Amino acid sequence: MSKKPLILGIETSCDETAAAIIQDDISGVPITLSNIISSQFDVHRKFGGVVPDLAARAHVEKIDLIVKEALSKSKTKINDIDAVAATAGPGLVVCLSVGLNFAKALSLSLEKPFIGVNHLEGHALSPRLHKNLEYPYLLLLISGGHTQFLSVSGLGKYKRLGTTIDDALGEAFDKTAKILGIEFPGGPQIEILSKKGDPRKFDLPMPIINKGGCNFSFAGLKTAVLRFSKDIKTEQDKFDLAASFQNTIEKIIIKKTEVAFKEYLLCDKKNNKNFVVAGGVAANNRIRESIKNISQKNNFEVFFPKQELCGDNAAMIAMVGLERFKLNNFSKHDLKVNPRWQLDENAKFLKGSGVVL
Ligand code: KG4
Ligand code: ZN
Repeated sequence: MSKKPLILGIETSCDETAAAIIQDDISGVPITLSNIISSQFDVHRKFGGVVPDLAARAHVEKIDLIVKEALSKSKTKINDIDAVAATAGPGLVVCLSVGLNFAKALSLSLEKPFIGVNHLEGHALSPRLHKNLEYPYLLLLISGGHTQFLSVSGLGKYKRLGTTIDDALGEAFDKTAKILGIEFPGGPQIEILSKKGDPRKFDLPMPIINKGGCNFSFAGLKTAVLRFSKDIKTEQDKFDLAASFQNTIEKIIIKKTEVAFKEYLLCDKKNNKNFVVAGGVAANNRIRESIKNISQKNNFEVFFPKQELCGDNAAMIAMVGLERFKLNNFSKHDLKVNPRWQLDENAKFLKGSGVVL
């Protein structure tokens, strides 16, 4: 029996240096042999956000070690790798370039195919690392840079149904955390603090909740948090504001998901009611619960990546690499990084003033 394909995935689009090795399996769910992630929180903490040049330098310093660790943990020899997949975009140019160039050089020296992967497609396929999930499905991608509903009809086949017209959801969490004086990266801390607060204490707005289809807007919400934060006097006030923010986000997601369900069924005329929710914010347990409830009510079956696969990782990049490998869908070595690579390249740009919904 021939050896099952082994894929090395590399991810350096932002502030995580990651490498993973996965192997195809007859079950349809690949085996994750290793999934190494090195976060740079300590590098960026004192700046309150990711500094691109520092991030790139940290990737350069670590990439070699992280790939070696992924190989050693998986007990794989480098020559047994069948293809090298790396994130080509979207993300920070200086960061993407580190992983992509490393992967190209490795693939050339091993004489094995190179696959440039869309980071967002990695998130979209992340539940497939532990669940044999058939296409098509509705996807809600909620990360630090993106918030989109997409209809996914196959590998590389995406139709955007909705997006944010200003901040991404993860960005809204991080900015709210910053306003509340929580250290970067604050998003996950909001979820923790909100458990101690009263979600009804502050009446926060839900921008474009009754218009704009399943598009989102979070900028007005963040401004309202900033306004209320000026009245904070006690720790309890802070917990209450965090809880009110978390609660408002849940209400927005529930409402927009219901709209997206309708649009998905209408535009694709399918009855395949599968729903994938992925990206860093999909780790938020309260959001997961709200989405489970609304999905059940609408007879959609919902799939989340495992908690550890919600944030940026290289296993999801290897997953896209594996699917592309099986289709002989390789990249040329002159592929350039694409910092604005969209999943639906035909979707209209919907950001900034003058947007008509
Ligand atoms: O997917 P990801 O790791 O990176 C991007 O591709 O952007 O997402 C990171 C985002 C950050 O904004 C982070 O604050 C947010 O996901 N995040 C959370 C939680 N865990 C991570 N937001 C809310 N609740 C969480 N538990
Ligand atoms: Zn991501």
